[in-house]
Amino acid sequence: MVDSSAQQPTDNNGSTKAWSGRFSEPVSDLVKRYTASVFFDNRMAEQDIRGSLAHARMLARQKIIGAQDLADIERGMAQILEEIRRGELQWNLDDEDVHLNIERRLTALVGDAGKRLHTGRSRNDQVATDIRLWLRDAIDQIVSLIGDFQTNLLNLAEQHTRTAMPGFTHLQVAQPVTFGHHLLAYFEMTVRDAERFADARRRVNRLPLGAAALAGTSYPIDREFVARELGFEAVCENSLDAVSDRDFAIEFTSACALLMTHLSRMSEELILWMSPRFGFIDLADRFCTGSSIMPQKKNPDVPELVRGKTGRINGHLVALLTLMKGQPLAYNKDNQEDKEPLFDAADTVIDTLRIYADMITGIRVKADNMRAALTQGFATATDLADYLVKRGLPFRDAHEAVALAVRAAEARGCDLHELSLDELKGFSALVGDDVFGVLTVEGSLAARNHIGGTAPEQVAAAIVRARSRIAKA
Ligand code: ARG
Repeated sequence: MVDSSAQQPTDNNGSTKAWSGRFSEPVSDLVKRYTASVFFDNRMAEQDIRGSLAHARMLARQKIIGAQDLADIERGMAQILEEIRRGELQWNLDDEDVHLNIERRLTALVGDAGKRLHTGRSRNDQVATDIRLWLRDAIDQIVSLIGDFQTNLLNLAEQHTRTAMPGFTHLQVAQPVTFGHHLLAYFEMTVRDAERFADARRRVNRLPLGAAALAGTSYPIDREFVARELGFEAVCENSLDAVSDRDFAIEFTSACALLMTHLSRMSEELILWMSPRFGFIDLADRFCTGSSIMPQKKNPDVPELVRGKTGRINGHLVALLTLMKGQPLAYNKDNQEDKEPLFDAADTVIDTLRIYADMITGIRVKADNMRAALTQGFATATDLADYLVKRGLPFRDAHEAVALAVRAAEARGCDLHELSLDELKGFSALVGDDVFGVLTVEGSLAARNHIGGTAPEQVAAAIVRARSRIAKA
């Protein structure tokens, strides 16, 4: 579970801030609200507790705190976790963020042991740790949802290894392809997306704790132990870097932006195909809505929103890049602004993948309309040119001969295969009576018989290979 947010914070004017000792006047309510992050960072509460427990176990092992302190901290944290899960923990605006809220509750429950927890660490390395733990879970969830999307895509493709449709360039009919082949293009895009998330995860999965505020700590800590406890692959090597950079969050969001870009392109196609002008597919009603004024309308709202939400993710990516670019080392409060874009990017991608996997099962293919569209655009013209080339004509001459044949067919209002053998011979003496074999859609498809080609036999084999490449967390 990524989300552990509970109640909204309340403003408890009575309490003193964890750092207020140095100050002569309290912050105004506006400043308090402006600087607080507990409204949104309390969804990292479970990660914060996991990180604190690992830190406390290390402190006890290293004899920096006592065994009884550790026992008290573990008992208190177990209770806090329960309170959070039951939605009972009171989030308090005066305590700024998730870290101070949990620490204050711990101290209320167990006394001095709670006050010892923050020995040898800072909120700077604490927050960086929490985000990385949170993001690691989010990445695992996203990769497994990409796998669900891919499974459903392959199931649909499998039913359409022979379903002919026009392939387009410039949105003009270009050459016949199979619908299965077209869908496999999206499979490949999402394979790369899953790779990008998995690759980003390697750099997310490093432990910042131990960096403390920025320079490390004077206590005899054991960072490797904490890393192992939390399942991190290694520790961040430089303390200044550990607390200040959010490049891992930017990488993640950029992987989100590319994934959404792919789904947005697919959405654009679903929208076009569903328009009666194409009529290639119908989309199950549960992904569409009607119009309040036009009773006949069935609008593809879900794919339209996927296209729209892609803009929102691109915005988050630019926000995070901009957030980082001017910051001097090490930690600056600017970094608190990393969370909302990051959380929203993950939430949006997770919802989009869930909905998309289901939507694919709701696509009804109108194969007759796909085939009819093929006969309107001279889709086998390249096949005729290739036929002439194989009989010895240079490709440029073949191109010219076929262009003239297309003009003649267009003038007659017919397709190339409807011209007579004599007419076709008029464009090149190399035309023989076997020419109609290449002018048919089936001939054109079958001819592209190599890895990555659209021949039905190749598409079926590609689907078999793809099954073993489905993303797994
Ligand atoms: N809420 C802060 C954040 O999200 C935690 C770190 C605060 N550190 C500090 N020195 N004020 O970044």
